[in-house]
Amino acid sequence: MAFEFISAQLARQHELLRYRKRNTVQLDSQANNRIVIEGKSYLNFSSNDYLGLNGHQAINKAMQEGVDRFGASASASSLITGHHYAHQALENDICQWLNKPRCLLFSSGFAANLALLQTLGQSFQGKSAAEVEFYLDKLSHASMIEGAYHSEAKVKRFAHNNITQLTAQLAKSSNENKLIASEGVFSMDGDQAKVGELAKLATNNNAWLYLDDAHSIGVIGENGQGSNSLADIDITMATFGKALASSGAFIACNESLHDYLINFARHYIYSTAISPAVAMATRQSIAIAQQEQWRRDKIIELSNLFTDLLDKHIVLVPSQSSIHAIIVKKEEKALSVSQQLKEQGIWLSAIRPPTVAANSSRLRVTICANHNHQDIKRLAESLNKALN
Ligand SMILES: Cc1ncc(COP(=O)(O)O)c(C=O)c1O
Repeated sequence: MAFEFISAQLARQHELLRYRKRNTVQLDSQANNRIVIEGKSYLNFSSNDYLGLNGHQAINKAMQEGVDRFGASASASSLITGHHYAHQALENDICQWLNKPRCLLFSSGFAANLALLQTLGQSFQGKSAAEVEFYLDKLSHASMIEGAYHSEAKVKRFAHNNITQLTAQLAKSSNENKLIASEGVFSMDGDQAKVGELAKLATNNNAWLYLDDAHSIGVIGENGQGSNSLADIDITMATFGKALASSGAFIACNESLHDYLINFARHYIYSTAISPAVAMATRQSIAIAQQEQWRRDKIIELSNLFTDLLDKHIVLVPSQSSIHAIIVKKEEKALSVSQQLKEQGIWLSAIRPPTVAANSSRLRVTICANHNHQDIKRLAESLNKALN
């Protein structure tokens, strides 16, 4: 039989307790921090809507006005006739926000990471991509790893946040084209890259620093600027699908890289531009993210409360972000805790390999600006019981 490996591999996923399935989710009309699954409402601690902006009236209105003005679709790729006023305006807003010369929009963060790494790491006109080196933090997102290894560049990995190891790796290289890549806030741990040290290392080694700010943008730094408020970052990528509550992504960089990506990045050239209506909605969410500091303050206040209320034997990965990881190691344990919380009306997904390393299954709690003290107390009480 053709493709027999499919059923064998799926059976193996079941055996390993790593089988994944989707749930069809509805937003609870009563509160945007709750979801309804199979008719039951749950308090949601597995959302990436960190600032609680999804469903915000002003963003919805901007989207509706965008649809009225531009329709739902860009109707072409950006280099043909798909780059509308809405896209240019969004790029300009991001440049101003992050103090960057240029910005380029992508259909997703995954595509943006692939585009950047594959385009910088591809050979052209006799130049070998072996003249390019990528240095990736061990915990870099799947899309960065995918982009790097599907390029022709030399790829080196350094242990998570290990500046000493990275320094030694860079010292051994005489390559002129070095890119250091990491995440502003790590998606499954919630801790931050050592942004200042990475920026210094990049400067001292004549390398570029590339940060994936998917989980930092809107949440960290002054006006929600993410890692850019901590140091001078050569290239910033961030998705709109998390704190900014829309979809798509951007890369902010200098003029020449911007031009290079427009000319050579296949993910940009051969893909329909994001919906202009989504671009209009994103402009509005960025404006709110910049202005409403209380949303960032609330994440910190509730995160501190959560840490205080958890029993002391429960260890959280240290975090200044919305993401709080409780590593329970075994898949079985993570699934069991998730199930116990579900029975109490709390949705907290179990994160298992291969999303995280073997023997590091976890509960990934996201605390958002639309949670309140009572929600956090309920969560902490339930976790204390399930993990005692
Ligand atoms: C660190 C990181 N980078 C990139 C992505 C991909 O972004 P998108 O969901 O827009 O494809 C994600 C998550 O989805 C992420 O966590």
